[in-house]
Amino acid sequence: MKDCSVRKKFMTIWLNQTQKLLRQNNWPQAKRFLAKKGLELLPCLIDSHVHFRTPGSEYKENWRSAARAMLNGGIPAVIDMPNNSPSIVDKKTLNQKIKLINRQLALPIKYFLYLGATTAKLPDKNLKNKVAGLKVYVGSSTGNLLVDKAEQLEKIFKAWPGLLAFHAEDEELIKVREKKFRRLKGAVKHSEIRNNEVAVRTLKKIIALAQKYNRRVYICHVSTAKEIKIIKKAKARGLKIYAEVTPHHLFLNTDDYKKWKNFIKVNPPVRTKKDNQALWRALADGTIDVLATDHAPHLPKEKKQAYAKAPSGIPEIDTVLPLMLNAVKNKRITLKKLIKLMHNNPIKIFRLKGLKKYGTIVDLNLRKKVLKKNLKTKCGWTPYEGRELTGWPVATILNNKIYKINNK
Ligand code: NCD
Ligand code: ZN
Ligand code: ZN
Ligand code: ZN
Repeated sequence: MKDCSVRKKFMTIWLNQTQKLLRQNNWPQAKRFLAKKGLELLPCLIDSHVHFRTPGSEYKENWRSAARAMLNGGIPAVIDMPNNSPSIVDKKTLNQKIKLINRQLALPIKYFLYLGATTAKLPDKNLKNKVAGLKVYVGSSTGNLLVDKAEQLEKIFKAWPGLLAFHAEDEELIKVREKKFRRLKGAVKHSEIRNNEVAVRTLKKIIALAQKYNRRVYICHVSTAKEIKIIKKAKARGLKIYAEVTPHHLFLNTDDYKKWKNFIKVNPPVRTKKDNQALWRALADGTIDVLATDHAPHLPKEKKQAYAKAPSGIPEIDTVLPLMLNAVKNKRITLKKLIKLMHNNPIKIFRLKGLKKYGTIVDLNLRKKVLKKNLKTKCGWTPYEGRELTGWPVATILNNKIYKINNK
């Protein structure tokens, strides 16, 4: 621990030196300099799946609080989802959202946005280069976006030539299973209602359509061993299918309902330990392309309601990097692989630009507990409370400027 305080004193000096190098745009030398001091300079990490709640639910999160959480978590860039109120489904709602975001932002973070698919009208192809992709909710989740009929889904595949991203759950089966398990008590029933079959059924439909229309498809929050198997096969057949995994599907499972109840109610739900393990293996073998948080803030008082009323979603942006760096320390994943999942692959899949002057400085040896008092997300809680982790971001670089993180 003494070592830690000495480290902190010198940190300021190192960061000043690094700042000079960055101003000269000399990233390679800054990287070498920091490496000598036991710190690592990572390229721009992207969280490819967040819900920052503007417009409509700013009481849960807004871009001022979210940007501070990004900085705190060492994540300079995000892709934000369209399930707002109103939903982001056309040029008008997209431009309104951009205006609001820019008004709220007090930090120069990088952001990209999704367009949402709706049954009311087909997506505007002209927006293809303005957004990261078209998000399709095949099963219902937070918000009103839903495309649950086969004909509608097919029409959207036809109409949108760009990347199609999916919340892949089968709405019809969810409804059937809601009835079947209506007597079951507690949050655990969420994993019964939205079971493996709910995810697999929709995934198969998406794969068939991706093949038929030769489209690039991205499966959000893959959570089960069964989906991994199917995606692996589809990839082997040469389909352009990409898979995303979230921290909660890696680090949480149905055992955690006991302690966390509806706080960990999320779509798709947390699964078994076996599924956790299958996802870790899929990270290593390349079946999973992207690690993204699905940061979905809801207030504690909302989460404390009864099962049916409690909203689904977990906040993650403050904690994703320390959780993953701790996994690097435990040799569950390599640092190189982590960078691939949060930098190289998202850049390729979503065709992102302008991230050269963004990055994160991490201390792979810094050991600290996750505590809610240190979070910056507006919702103010985390299911990782109390976990002691090794490997934390110490500074976030936005547009070549170093923002030191308060690591008390
Ligand atoms: C997300 C939200 O709250 O916006 N909730 C969730 O449970 N994951 C929506 C989503 O990603 O499905
Ligand atoms: Zn979703
Ligand atoms: Zn989401
Ligand atoms: Zn790069």
